[in-house]
Amino acid sequence: MSADRGVAVDGDVDIHAGRVVLVTGGSQGIGRGIAEVLAAKGASVVVHGLTQEFVDETVAAIGAAGGKATGTWGPIDRPQTTIEAVDAALRAYGRLDHLVTAAGIQRYGDAVSTSVETWDEVFGVNVRGVFLAAHAALPHIRERKGTVTIISSVQATATQQQVVAYTASKGALNALTRALAVDEADHGVRVNSVAPGSVDTPMLRHSAAMFSVGTPEAVEATIADWGRMHALGRVAQPREIGEAVSFLASDAASFITGAELRADGGLLARIAAALPAKD
Ligand SMILES: NC(=O)c1ccc[n+]([C@@H]2O[C@H](COP(=O)([O-])OP(=O)(O)OC[C@H]3O[C@@H](n4cnc5c(N)ncnc54)[C@H](O)[C@@H]3O)[C@@H](O)[C@H]2O)c1
Repeated sequence: MSADRGVAVDGDVDIHAGRVVLVTGGSQGIGRGIAEVLAAKGASVVVHGLTQEFVDETVAAIGAAGGKATGTWGPIDRPQTTIEAVDAALRAYGRLDHLVTAAGIQRYGDAVSTSVETWDEVFGVNVRGVFLAAHAALPHIRERKGTVTIISSVQATATQQQVVAYTASKGALNALTRALAVDEADHGVRVNSVAPGSVDTPMLRHSAAMFSVGTPEAVEATIADWGRMHALGRVAQPREIGEAVSFLASDAASFITGAELRADGGLLARIAAALPAKD
């Protein structure tokens, strides 16, 4: 199947058949794209999200496309949520092979304008939430010699202004990826992160509305502007990040652990320099 704008999505290969994957933040945006790609490639998917409504919608969409999915929801910074999510996988499918952490939030501010509450909120979801999911899921993933894939960001490596908490949280995730990879290698579990550039999701559209006058036309124009910052000249679709995760979770990536895979359309490959003007 191929989507618009030259985005190739191959849903025909059953490379994840028989495997069970828990996707936090799987109810919308990047996580939903990941859940849909993995389900299309044969995985049974446990879709987690903050609220039941969006989880149900994603589970239904995966089912309608011929995939297998079940849902679970709740705030990811609470241990009970991740325990229930792992239980949901075991109840529905009897095992857990892969964890993908895509639940995350973006808040804006520098070190003065960011409140302590906002800092804690961002680290609660983006860092504590990933630790809690790994903490609950790894005993079962070890049994399967499976994988963990953490959705980080290009902002772990290069940052814009006014995102202190977000950028610091994503840097922490890259460090957590390495720490988990080194520990879990003894158990046959591989752990990697994916660093997306800009991806067309509700989060990105919310930011585009904040940084423009907010009309539908202004949001589209802002997203197109952001797209032009990437060498490929556009933002990504969520399923393109799903394809990167699919690779890392597959046996094709059997010697890859502790890695940070950039799926950023060349955003970080380019420096902000103009060509010399022609006479
Ligand atoms: N969209 C981008 O351009 C972009 C770029 C780089 C990295 N990322 C990262 O990718 C991940 C997903 O981003 P997105 O753009 O799809 O975001 P989104 O807002 O569209 O979706 C976020 C998902 O996380 C879940 N979530 C949010 N807060 C939660 C909470 N407190 N408890 C439980 N679940 C919660 C939501 O239910 C939803 O499923 C985030 O970690 C984000 O930092 C996004």
